[in-house]
Amino acid sequence: MSNTSRLHHVLPITATGVDGRLYIGGCDLVALADRFGTPLYVYDVATMNDAVSRYEAALEAHYPGSWEITYAAKAFWCTAMAQWASTRGLGLDVVSGGELFIGTQAGFPPQRIHFHGNNKADAELAMALEVGVGRVVLDHEAEVDRLERLAAARGEEVTVWLRVAPGIDVHTHDYVVTGRADTKFGVPLAEDTAMRVARRILRSPHLRLVGLHAHLGSQLFEAMPVARAAQVLIDLAAALRDLGFVLHELSPGGGWGVPYTPEMSPAPVEPYVAAVSQATVVACQRHGMEIPRLVLEPGRSLVARAGVALYRVGGVKHQSDRTFVLIDGGLADNPRPALYGAKYTAVVANRVGDPATEVVAVAGPYCESGDVLIQEISLPPVRPGDLLAVPVSGAYHLSMASNYNAARRPAALWLVDGDAHVIQERESLEDLIRRDRPLPDGVTR
Ligand code: LLP
Repeated sequence: MSNTSRLHHVLPITATGVDGRLYIGGCDLVALADRFGTPLYVYDVATMNDAVSRYEAALEAHYPGSWEITYAAKAFWCTAMAQWASTRGLGLDVVSGGELFIGTQAGFPPQRIHFHGNNKADAELAMALEVGVGRVVLDHEAEVDRLERLAAARGEEVTVWLRVAPGIDVHTHDYVVTGRADTKFGVPLAEDTAMRVARRILRSPHLRLVGLHAHLGSQLFEAMPVARAAQVLIDLAAALRDLGFVLHELSPGGGWGVPYTPEMSPAPVEPYVAAVSQATVVACQRHGMEIPRLVLEPGRSLVARAGVALYRVGGVKHQSDRTFVLIDGGLADNPRPALYGAKYTAVVANRVGDPATEVVAVAGPYCESGDVLIQEISLPPVRPGDLLAVPVSGAYHLSMASNYNAARRPAALWLVDGDAHVIQERESLEDLIRRDRPLPDGVTR
């Protein structure tokens, strides 16, 4: 690999520089940008497969029972992703009727779907029952009542988990913390609320409680809180044994982090998987329980590194003591810097290996001062027409993209062995008005 080595752990695993041009998945990114336009998102399938394999190997090595890797669709979801997740044998975490629809219409096996969410509408629950999702993850007591009514009306027994808020804090951005006692997600462990709701479910003839779930947050780099969550859930399961509850499945959530910039250390999954596995085994031993099926729910750590965003440089602007490299995307396709203060790096994809000599900011075209993708980065001198590649763009970009300023959401390509397949078309101008309905004559007067 020529001159991309500093970025080795943030670029996709197939990244290489050839004659100063960045190649991924055997494809020349400069040629792809010329052919498909920018902003353009590319996904390196080899990197996604590698990420799955690392989870599989770690679980195989450290967890003595059965296990499952469940992809959190919210990280990036479309028909091709559903096909991939299905083929790879992954489970699927969906949180809305929309994500469920995308999965099932693509042929994802419903039995492997877990339906999460802290406020599922009756229509969504009904849809879940209709397609036969494998697990409904109950979030609170009123939802237990609603699902029970729907299941009773269908004369069915629905297999469920209960989501618990274990009251465990983690070090990450406040907006992506979900396991504290005061979170909006799940039933609190405190004051025996989780016990009470679990007992309520266990009494229901229409609900079959087989698992407990907690999710602490996202972009986590410490395994211990997640291991602790597994223990806490097992303690709860032990306390429910007198009601005949058997913990068949345990899900301590997802949330493992990834580095976004070369300054951040790699975050291998093995120590995390090992810690969670060990905590599960030890806690079960302590209670004399059989070990459950361990379900991990990664989103970001499966797809973030596989994705690269490509932007065309329009102008370079000197403003007071700053230099802005102006690109043709930003806030609308990647709200993460504005929302979470997320940091990114970039490569000039058509001049890989040129020495970085200038400190610049990289900003998009949208009407927000917060539309600055990178506040400060050293790059080679950048000229209009250059192509900027932003690594680690695979998770929570396209799935959070907007049409702000009537931006057209970018195309996405699937790169494999030198071939590029369009998996999402760029939105057209017509798409922008597809939902619009003109007022009848006279109404505007
Ligand atoms: N399971 C549950 C119940 C979740 O809520 C989430 C993410 C995951 C699994 C997957 O988490 P991951 O492994 O991807 O961290 N938009 C934010 C991230 C929000 C994550 C929401 N829940 C961001 O861009 O950082």
